[in-house]
This record gives sequence, C-alpha cells and structure tokens, in this order.
Amino acid sequence: MIKAKIADLLNSDQFLQEVEVKGWVRSFRSNRFIAVNDGSTINNIQCVIDFENTPEDVLKRITVGAALMIKGTLKESLGSQQSVEVEVTSLEILGDANPEEVKLTILSPKKHSLEKLREQAHLRIRTNTFGAVMRVRSKLSFAVHSYFQQNNFHYVNTPIITGSDAEGAGEMFKVTGMDLNNPERDEKGNINYKEDFFGKETNLTVSGQLEAETYAMGLGQVYTFGPTFRAENSNTSRHLAEFWMIEPEVAFCDLDGNMDLAEDFIKYVVSYVLENCKDDLEFLENRLKDDEKTKPAAERSELDLLEKLKFVTENNFKRVSYTEAIDILKNSKPNKKKKFQYPIEEWGADLQSEHERFLVEKHFKCPVILFDYPANIKAFYMRLNEDGKTVRAMDILFPGIGEIVGGSQREERLDVLKEKMKALDIDEKELWWYLDTRKFGTCVHSGFGLGFERLVLFVTGMTNIRDVIPFPRTPQNAEF
Ligand code: 4AD
Ligand code: MG
Repeated sequence: MIKAKIADLLNSDQFLQEVEVKGWVRSFRSNRFIAVNDGSTINNIQCVIDFENTPEDVLKRITVGAALMIKGTLKESLGSQQSVEVEVTSLEILGDANPEEVKLTILSPKKHSLEKLREQAHLRIRTNTFGAVMRVRSKLSFAVHSYFQQNNFHYVNTPIITGSDAEGAGEMFKVTGMDLNNPERDEKGNINYKEDFFGKETNLTVSGQLEAETYAMGLGQVYTFGPTFRAENSNTSRHLAEFWMIEPEVAFCDLDGNMDLAEDFIKYVVSYVLENCKDDLEFLENRLKDDEKTKPAAERSELDLLEKLKFVTENNFKRVSYTEAIDILKNSKPNKKKKFQYPIEEWGADLQSEHERFLVEKHFKCPVILFDYPANIKAFYMRLNEDGKTVRAMDILFPGIGEIVGGSQREERLDVLKEKMKALDIDEKELWWYLDTRKFGTCVHSGFGLGFERLVLFVTGMTNIRDVIPFPRTPQNAEF
C-alpha cells in the first residue's frame, strides 16, 4: 500500500498499485467521480467509485469540503483532464461538511471575489488560488534561506519587542506590560493600562537592521527573516501593519556591493520558484489571463506572468541616481493627457509611488535601482556622501509593485553619525549599544530590507498584499 501525497501520485507510474489518499472533496460528479485535493499540489486526483456498491448514506456524505480517506488502485486515466486516477475500493468519511452550511461559506463551488475570500481567511486556503499562492510563498521562504546559507551568511533572530525605533519614523506599535490576571486598578476599579513593558517604553520592531548591524560586526555576513510591524494607517494594496522582512547586513561591503547582492539574491529566488513551482505558477498565470481579458486593451499587461519572471532573472536591473531620476520625472507625464498627481518640482522631493512606477513601467521598462538620495528624506544611519547632501541609499523598484527593497551603506564614522543623530533629535543614550559598533573596529558595511510580501505579490501576480499573507493585519482586520 502506497501512502503518498497527491503531488507524488500524479507523477507516479506505479499503476495497479494499492494506494491510500487522504484529502478534501473539491467536487463530486455523476455519483461517480470525486475530485480530491490534499494541499500538496494545485491538481486534484480523480477517484472513481462504484456507486452501485456504495451505500446511499455514504454517497450522500461525499460533499464539497468533506474530509475523506480513500483506498484504491492507481490506474492510467482515460479522461483528458488527468493521466492517473484511483479506482476506489474503500472509502471512509473522516469529517463531514454539511452542504447547507457550506453554501453559506466561500467553500461553496462558485467564483467568489478576493474581497469575499478575505472575510473568511481561515477557509480561503482551500481554494485553488490561495493554495497556489501559499505554496509559492513557502517555496520562496525556503529559497531565501537557501541563497544566504549557500553564500556563507548566518541567520540571526533579532528582537520583536524593542526599545529602539530603527527607522526613526515613529510608526511603532507600543507594547504594554499589563498582567491581565492581576491588573492594576484605580480607586474606581478601572484597569490602569500601563504604557510600558515592565517599566520601560518598548514597541514592536519596525526593522531588525540595527541589531543585525551589531551581528555583522562579529559574524561578518548575516541576514534576518522575521515579522516587522508598522503602525502606519495606510490602506493601500502594498502596505500591511504586520509584514515579513528579509534583512541582510554585510561587513566590508559598500553600496555597489549591496546592489550586486540584492540583484543576485532576487534573481536567485525568482529562478528558484520558476524551477520548483511550475504547476502553481501556470495556474496563477492562467488566472491572470482571465482577468486581463476583462480589461481594456491599453491596460493589459504586455507579458504573461512567467515571461515577466523570466525577464527579471535574465536582465540587468537599471541603476540610476536619484538626481538623474528627478531630471527624467521633471520632463515626463504619466500619459499624454494626464500630469502626475504630485508633479516633481524640484530636487529634494520624495518620490511617490506614481513616480516610481512611471520609471519602472513606462520609462526604463525593467527593475530599477535608485541610489544616492537626498539625506533629509532618508533615515539617520545612512552613509553621507562627500557632497554633504546625499546619502548612499538605494531603493529597488519593481514593475507592478513599486519599492520592493530599501537599503544603504551605513554611516560608519562615529562623529558623523553622532552629529546626524543630534540634528534629528535622536537620543544617544538610547542607542549607546549601536554607537559601540562604531567605537570598536568600525568598518564600511551595508545592508538592505526586502519586504517579503511584496516579493510574493510580484512572483504570484496577485494585486493586493492582503492576498499573499495567510492572515493579513490591516487597520480593518485583526480578528484571528
Ligand atoms: O524601506 P524600509 O522601511 O527599510 C527598512 O526598514 C530598513 N531598515 C531596511 C534595511 O536597510 N535593513 O522597508 C524595507 C522594505 C520596503 O522596501 C518594502 O518592501 C517593505 O520593507 N515594507 C513593507 N511591506 C509591507 N507593508 C509595509 N507597511 C511595509 N513597509 C515597508
Ligand atoms: Mg523604504
């Protein structure tokens, strides 16, 4: 008896072998053909029952969503949809799914909108689209570790609860230290909500960078891959309050080395999924093709999903300084009729996503690395250039996404760093440990942060970031 996952059975040629399959019913046709899925692949396995010899009460319980254990014989299929099928010899219902109740959920077999699926995030994983997206997400995570481990990077877990604001942007969720079982109360009996974590002000991390820098100063090359939190109340299709970030940090590496690393890394992980997620990516590509048909011709994408992914792995990213980009944007319009919503008037302005997307999608038509930004629109830790007004920052912009990576060469000079902190009113006492890295064996070093969900968005062709993380945390949604 072969107990295998459906993904393996579908590729098997061990015909006439006895197999056991456990999974959920996706459809049941003609009282004969059950399509079963176990999550191992986008494809279902067809299980054929002899309904004349199956008791009526069992037949009734073979309903969409029910969990089954099937034993049977693996056979070559005569149907055009699949190459193998299982001729059922025994069938056990492991868990019923009442059709009347299923009808009220997104498990009911009809096309539901992504918005509707989001309302039932706990069930949407049983749909083809979410199965495909989440398997690709899982493979991408593996590829992230595989890239860094193969290249001699060490994986570091930086704190989730922290006293520092790595980005200096003040977009933090506070951590409170209240003991729920024994809360402090005022005279009226109301709970005193503490604003602190055991006497210290702390928050959920916005980035593990500063801690990762301290580790790069000992381990040489490190990377983090963990959850980060931003209390920005932005309801866009690119922002989450809780997202996963990958942050490599490398000693003795300048901005050029940083750009090379980021480009090589992205190309590796995209190639990895192209190689290892073929069925899921093909499914996602076809899904997009159906969507594209409903759009006006001018808005349709020129490349299919797989072509888009291959393009990224095969072509150099365009490297452009902020100053060059501003010149391009000053003289451009997003299209003949329309101006930018926020026209670029002068050097020093921060780029909005409309500008980023124009550069990538209309002007260069490839991923773009923008570097050497004005110091005053970037974080305090970035290396000041000799011109005294720009910093060695880089952002990587992707088609359909906008910013996917933000990084920089770090300010390694203690005196310059202290001056910068003073100008921005950042208390030296709070970052004494960070300043120590510049006191003891400081060196040129660089790193970047890649928003994992933005990468998953790009690779799967999904359009809303809420649809590429299992349980999205947004200003409206924190139920689970
Ligand atoms: O540009 P950010 O804010 O950079 C940092 O946090 C640096 N400390 C990284 C570093 O140098 N180690 O964020 C990095 C990336 C962005 O480019 C974007 O892809 C993603 O994180 N990101 C978000 N993704 C989803 N939702 C949000 N609210 C995000 N904010 C940033
Ligand atoms: Mg950024």
